[in-house]
Amino acid sequence: MKVPIGVDMVSKTMEDLVSLCKRRGFIFQSNEIYGGLQGIYDYGPLGVELKNNLKQAWWKSIIYERDDVEGLDASILTGKEVLKYSGHEDTFSDPLVDCKNCKNRFRADQLDNSNCPECGSKDLTEPRPFNLMFKTSVGPVDDGSNYAYLRPETAQQIFTNFKNVLDSTNKSIPFGVAQIGKAFRNEVTPGKFIFRVREFEQMELEFFVEPGQDEEWHNYWVDLRYNWWIEQGIEKQRLKKFEVEKSDLSHYSKATVDIMYDFPHGLEELEGIANRTDFDLGSHTKNQEEFGIVAEVMKNKKSTTKLGVQNLETKKWFIPYVIEPSAGVDRGVLALLNEAYREEKVDDNNSRIVLGLKPHLSPIKAAVIPLKRNNEELVSVAKEIKNNLQRLGLGRVILENSGNIGKSYRRHDEIGTPICITVDFETLENKSVTIRDRDTMEQKRLNPQELNDFYERIFD
Ligand code: GAP
Repeated sequence: MKVPIGVDMVSKTMEDLVSLCKRRGFIFQSNEIYGGLQGIYDYGPLGVELKNNLKQAWWKSIIYERDDVEGLDASILTGKEVLKYSGHEDTFSDPLVDCKNCKNRFRADQLDNSNCPECGSKDLTEPRPFNLMFKTSVGPVDDGSNYAYLRPETAQQIFTNFKNVLDSTNKSIPFGVAQIGKAFRNEVTPGKFIFRVREFEQMELEFFVEPGQDEEWHNYWVDLRYNWWIEQGIEKQRLKKFEVEKSDLSHYSKATVDIMYDFPHGLEELEGIANRTDFDLGSHTKNQEEFGIVAEVMKNKKSTTKLGVQNLETKKWFIPYVIEPSAGVDRGVLALLNEAYREEKVDDNNSRIVLGLKPHLSPIKAAVIPLKRNNEELVSVAKEIKNNLQRLGLGRVILENSGNIGKSYRRHDEIGTPICITVDFETLENKSVTIRDRDTMEQKRLNPQELNDFYERIFD
């Protein structure tokens, strides 16, 4: 088939993304030299930049561009009381079945029929709950009693710090606390690359509102978060809002809308926005009986702190409701890579892979390339340009001293660098450089001031 120049040649697969990630240093299998740890991945030199850029974009939109959200960075190790009263010890489990024939284990709710997906046997055990939390001992005595958990979501320590944040800031309801960090789940069937993993990152906001105003805030956050993903470069047609059925809701939720993305393996959850009612602060508060808590919570005699607030007009104390937009960083990275990856024809004989990331997400913002490798004068001017652009603080700029301009362009197309800047002998005379655009491949000559202006405008 003859493909017109500049047009996507093939639809990508998960294998294309995995291969690009390994080849260019975005994502590696963790512990690979010892055979790998299943469901765990490491982010390489470019992956860490992309991931940080995504997290920064989220932090900026949730905290810096608003006045009603504060940030938090709480501990990963979480005490057993927190995860007891949150309901995780009792309910954070998946139904597990064993195949008696091949001894593999599966999630009962993910079997297409009652046959083993590995060997086809029908001889499976009855489903039993398998708690997904990782437990570890704390302190020098490992007698089984001094244990804590690696947090299964970042949310819980936001609730336990609710009073600390309230007392140390000038916030009042409605307001939110946001956190980005690692979460751990001993998934029964990790897979689909970084889609379902055992160690991952979440970007979570717990937004505290008055009961009665919760549904309005829920709708507000669903729309805001949906639009944010589109601003990150995700096409509307691959992003869907999905109201979770009552029977599938988590134990804390009154209503949840999932933002689903059309990943290479199918339409799956990218972010969930839940109305957690007064379940969380109600579960962790001291003197629960004072607050008329609506959610079904476990009796808590251990908490030392009241987590209610006062309505300044009615003077009534109440437990705030929580609206929680909770997004997966790793799923975000996978969706962005999938969205940005394209393979296109350049001319009759050549094609190129392009990662059309939005510039604010690109791991490298600009590559400065001396026309001749190791030519002292050219390299020195290139270094100066690199340092000047780097000082603008818009992200990583690199000096690419490979001497092969064509190969450098291809490499930077493939890793999503928005512009390449070539330093040649004319630069030595009048300081002008050639810039080449990743998407259009157009080149133009700019003087130093034009270069700075052009570079800054890319991020508008
Ligand atoms: N605090 C609410 C909460 O944790 P969740 O739906 O279990 O809700 C929120 O998780 C987000 O975290 C999901 O939408 C997904 O993006 C991400 N996530 C959950 N489990 C994951 C896993 N095993 N691997 C990668 N990301 C995961």
